[in-house]
Amino acid sequence: MDGNGRWANARGLPRTAGHRAGVERVREAVRTAVEAGIGYLTLFAFSSENWSRPQQEVSDLMGLLRFFIRRDLAELHRENVRIRVIGCRQTIQPDIRALLNEAEDRTRDNTGITLVIAFNYGARDELVRAVRGIAEAVRAGDMDVAAIDEAAIAARIDTAGIPDPDLVIRTSGEQRLSNFLLWQAAYTEFVFMPCLWPDFDRAAFLDALAEYGRRDRRYGAVSAPDLAVGS
Ligand code: IPE
Ligand code: MG
Repeated sequence: MDGNGRWANARGLPRTAGHRAGVERVREAVRTAVEAGIGYLTLFAFSSENWSRPQQEVSDLMGLLRFFIRRDLAELHRENVRIRVIGCRQTIQPDIRALLNEAEDRTRDNTGITLVIAFNYGARDELVRAVRGIAEAVRAGDMDVAAIDEAAIAARIDTAGIPDPDLVIRTSGEQRLSNFLLWQAAYTEFVFMPCLWPDFDRAAFLDALAEYGRRDRRYGAVSAPDLAVGS
């Protein structure tokens, strides 16, 4: 969800106003994902690198997460949304940790879309934590080195049990991954959109999905028509 700051700047507003407008788009994004039959929607809300922003902005973003969970949790739960949180839970304020835990616990048995909130998330940090966990399991004698395979790693990263993303959409015209789902995005399609996150409405989301629909996914193989030509 990128471009909140520029959206606010363009209107002569403080960056916080952009973040606030961005939060309002989240509900719509969840609804559009449900409408489109998407099973998992991951929102990159706060990265492990975002702590380097001015202290006031960091605290505004924390405040907005509190606001979002407190205001929207009951409704998301009513709509059968299951919430999962990825990212490092150790280094965030205790009250935020409690809110995130509550959101997961309350919606655990829901069977609708899974809303994955990436908060204090960084893919390299996630991999470091997973590698440490594996090293500890080996040292404790609970795991053989030979048992370290792709499945074992996938089971120890934050997204354990969540399928790899088919599509990553990045708004605001930036064309980079910024430490998002590095392991999981091995075969992901990317759609980069110029629109700023507070302008990312239902129509923009559907446009991105239509673009995804035009992609030919081969996973390292050759597509069927090309095989026919070569044979
Ligand atoms: C939102 O957009 C991303 C968050 C960290 C919440 P930005 O704050 O990155 O907005 P720009 O990139 O400055 O426009
Ligand atoms: Mg940005």
